[in-house]
Amino acid sequence: MYEVGDGELKAIERVLNSQKYFRYQGPDVETETSLCELEWAQRLGSEFTLLTTSGTNSLVAGMAAFGIGVGDEVIIPAYTFVATAAAVMQVGAIPIVANIDESLLLNPEEVKKCITDKTKAVVAVHMDGLVCDLDGLKKVCGENNLLLVEDAAQACGASYKGQAVGTIGAFGGFSFNVDKVLSCGEGGLLVIADKSYQEQIKRSFLTHDTPAQFGASMREELAPLSFMGLSMRMNEINSAMLRIQMTRLDHIIEKLRGRKKQMADLLRSEGYFLRMGHDPEGDNGSVVHVVSADPLENSARVKSLLASEVVALSPTMRPAHAAWQWFKGMDKSDYWAKGLNPYGLTEKSYVYEKSSFLPSIQFLGSTIRIPIPYEGDFNNFLQKVLKGLKG
Ligand SMILES: Cc1ncc(COP(=O)(O)O)c(C=O)c1O
Repeated sequence: MYEVGDGELKAIERVLNSQKYFRYQGPDVETETSLCELEWAQRLGSEFTLLTTSGTNSLVAGMAAFGIGVGDEVIIPAYTFVATAAAVMQVGAIPIVANIDESLLLNPEEVKKCITDKTKAVVAVHMDGLVCDLDGLKKVCGENNLLLVEDAAQACGASYKGQAVGTIGAFGGFSFNVDKVLSCGEGGLLVIADKSYQEQIKRSFLTHDTPAQFGASMREELAPLSFMGLSMRMNEINSAMLRIQMTRLDHIIEKLRGRKKQMADLLRSEGYFLRMGHDPEGDNGSVVHVVSADPLENSARVKSLLASEVVALSPTMRPAHAAWQWFKGMDKSDYWAKGLNPYGLTEKSYVYEKSSFLPSIQFLGSTIRIPIPYEGDFNNFLQKVLKGLKG
């Protein structure tokens, strides 16, 4: 979370005083949650948005709605948070991990190598606010009849060629957990931008709220759907807070982008190379990625940056952001729900080995990830970065 203040306090107080905490308050009654969804739809230019309790759940609701399930394979990048793989498994499908390239993002050529007759979807993850090659990925998906999904959990405020990320694939998911550009503590948003997906829109709604099919507010809209889904409704307190957070988005992104540009210009003028994603203008500006010659130089620079009080790490040093860190949860041995482990529901066997990801290890291991500080004296910070990088 980058900014929080009186606006959020007042919004939460208003909801507390109203004693109305639930997203439904009768048919046709506008609530904080329904208004927040409307505001996101308007902002993103999207037919449908659905608030959920987390970014992970927004992906789960989207995958379920688009018919991704048991026996399907879903291609995800080697550099992403564990939640991307967990969401795939929660709908019964198998995550297939593709190598990233020097952009730290999914490479369409690597995606092609992972396609089999079971592949159903490809998840483009806009990591650290870096924007994926959506044209390239769309082309591969189109040629192979696959769904393109956008995991935009880390890319709130980012765009690709002028269009908001999360609205370009069949569906997109955002996260509002505490680390993200906007936050209401925990929360997520599913976006289905294309109005031709009416059936999927309804299915996602029922997936996120099983009882909705029985209640007065949504009964008619959801008929004739009738299945047991999950419970991932956003509450009114979180929605009210998020509505205020949304009013801060343009200003936060403008500041982050300004700072990132200043830092990028300075580092380039000193001879450093940066990883910039596939739309540097659309990047949300939250993180700078400095390229080192090799992992050895990288770890020496990281040490020196830390000694200069700059929060800098190789992406592989974060605990759950590189695929090989969570391979041990991707087999038949254990699962949260007895009998539902996707690896036990398919004849095909899957083996994940770190050695298959040497290119990803090389790119991540020769990158220093520096989050842009939002507060404080930025010029002083830049001097510390230069000192740290020079060792
Ligand atoms: C890339 C990515 N995908 C999905 C998620 C899941 O979001 P949440 O923590 O809101 O479930 C995160 C959260 O950090 C993320 O970084």
